[in-house]
Amino acid sequence: MKILFIGDVVGSPGREMVQEYLPKLKEKYRPTMTIINGENAAAGKGITEKIYRQFLEWGAQVITMGNHTWDKKEIYEFIDDAKYLIRPANFPENNPGKGIVYLNINGVLVAVINIQGRTFLQAIDDPFQKIDQLIEEAKKKTNIIFVDFHGEATSEKQAFGWYVDGRVSAVVGTHTHTQTADERILPEGTAYITDAGMTGPYDGILGVERDAVLKRFLTSLPVRFEITKTGRKQLNGVLIIVDANSGKAEKIERILINDDHPFFG
Ligand code: FE2
Repeated sequence: MKILFIGDVVGSPGREMVQEYLPKLKEKYRPTMTIINGENAAAGKGITEKIYRQFLEWGAQVITMGNHTWDKKEIYEFIDDAKYLIRPANFPENNPGKGIVYLNINGVLVAVINIQGRTFLQAIDDPFQKIDQLIEEAKKKTNIIFVDFHGEATSEKQAFGWYVDGRVSAVVGTHTHTQTADERILPEGTAYITDAGMTGPYDGILGVERDAVLKRFLTSLPVRFEITKTGRKQLNGVLIIVDANSGKAEKIERILINDDHPFFG
C-alpha cells in the first residue's frame, strides 16, 4: 500500500501545483491513495467547498486540515456533508466535522486521522490522550492508520511520533510549511517526518508575501499578510509504503519539487 501525502497547499499557487503535478506523481509512484493537507488552500486561510471538490476531482481521497479549519465561514455549511474532509480530532467534542475517516481501497480499509498539537498553538484537547482513543477505535477495523499531526513545535511532533510508534503506520507532520529532512521508520514500524513541507509559493516566506513579513519583523507594526500569487512555485510531500497486513511502514520518501529540485518522471 503506497500513500502519497501532499503538504500544506497554500492558495492558488499551491492548487496550481497540485493540478499540474498530482497526475505526474501518480504516474511515477502509483500511490494507492493520496491525502492532501488543505487548511491553507483558500488564499492561505481555510478551504471552500469548491476547492475541496477540486482536490477530490484531481485525484485525492482525503483532505486534512489544521488550525485554519474555521477561517472560511462557509465550512460550517458543508463540513458535515464532506465525507472525505477531516479536521483535528482533538478539537472540542461539540465542534462540527470529524477527525477520522475510513476508506475502503480495493477491499483494504485505511484509517486517516488528523490531530493537532497544542504547543504554541491553541490550547485544545490533549492530542496524546485523544490518539489513544482513536487508535483503539481504528484497530478494531484496520491496522493501516495514517496520522497528519498538525503542529508547530518539533519537540511535540517527535514526542508524538515516538508515543505512537508501532501503533500507527505513519505520522506526518504539517503546519510549519518547511520540509524537514528527518524522515525515518521508527523502530516499531511507524513512518515519521516532522514536517512534510508546503505546496505553494517558492519565494515567499512560508507562502506569504515577503514585503509584508519583513515589515512586521522590521517595524513590529501590524501588517496584512497576503499569499504570494506570482513567481516560482513548489510542491512538497512524502510517499509512504505500508505493509497492508501488518500496517507497518516499510519506506518513507520525501518529495520536493521546485526550481532547485526539478521533477523527474
Ligand atoms: Fe496550520
